[in-house]
Amino acid sequence: MSLVTLQEVLQEAQRGGYAVGAFNTNNMEIVQAIVETAEEERAPVILQASQGALKYAGLSYITAMVRAAATGASVPVVLHLDHGTSFEQAMLCLRHGFTSVMFDGSKYALADNIAHTLRVAEVAHAMEASVEGELGKIGGTEDDISVEEKDAFMTDPAEAEEFVAATGVDALAVAIGTAHGPYKGKPVLDFARLAAIRDRVKIPLVLHGASGVPAESIRRAIELGVCKINIDTDIRQAFTRGVKHVLQNSPAEYDPRKILGPAKAEMKAVIREKIRLFGSAGKA
Ligand code: G3H
Ligand code: 13P
Ligand code: ZN
Repeated sequence: MSLVTLQEVLQEAQRGGYAVGAFNTNNMEIVQAIVETAEEERAPVILQASQGALKYAGLSYITAMVRAAATGASVPVVLHLDHGTSFEQAMLCLRHGFTSVMFDGSKYALADNIAHTLRVAEVAHAMEASVEGELGKIGGTEDDISVEEKDAFMTDPAEAEEFVAATGVDALAVAIGTAHGPYKGKPVLDFARLAAIRDRVKIPLVLHGASGVPAESIRRAIELGVCKINIDTDIRQAFTRGVKHVLQNSPAEYDPRKILGPAKAEMKAVIREKIRLFGSAGKA
């Protein structure tokens, strides 16, 4: 199957009341783990690459690998730029065949975030691709910020309404208490804020930093309008667990296939659990 847009899979998810997993990829084993699992679970799926992933693997390699995986699959696959921070980066990805781009303008004030996101959205839509915007700041779990700062970074529901109307984005990433990376304690999500955003914004919402978020919080977020859920850290940890396991048990092993094969199996187990939790299993 050829690649599909984010808008196509999220529209279905919104109608069906489930979320589609957006899994970060950096190499061939991760691409294969994601697409093989989505195929086995009959689930639509989003593969996303950060700017760091594109720098590491190369834009043409990431595009070619995801395209090859999607061509061999019978479930819908989206190729999405994660946290793009420049117009040029978004354009490069679109030219290479990405079907969706995120413009992360969260470092800008509202008016500038709107202006930058709109510029990306106009071109992306003319190319029949989708756009995700971000409002509020989704930081890292390592960021040393106070409770007041944390609150100030959260998405304001009235601004969200204005941002979506002004930019025409297809999906909106919201800051409601999640963060990127491994959590030290249990993450606390602001569901009242999410409900207030949902009242004003009708497009699919996106939850970043979802690794390590308890299952009951994920289910509640989906009930309140989250249709795309980003997972990276849980996959990275599964990969590393798999590699460590082989090297600890067989320190003399030198065949990359015998080291990375088990890592792929570990990643697939995590991805399967997420797909089932998000309710997207059996939806393709
Ligand atoms: O949102 C961040 C993603 O986990 C990507 O992380 O920039 O280290 O590739 P990265
Ligand atoms: P985690 O690494 O915390 O799962 O976050 C992933 C993410 O939000 C990618 O954009
Ligand atoms: Zn993110």
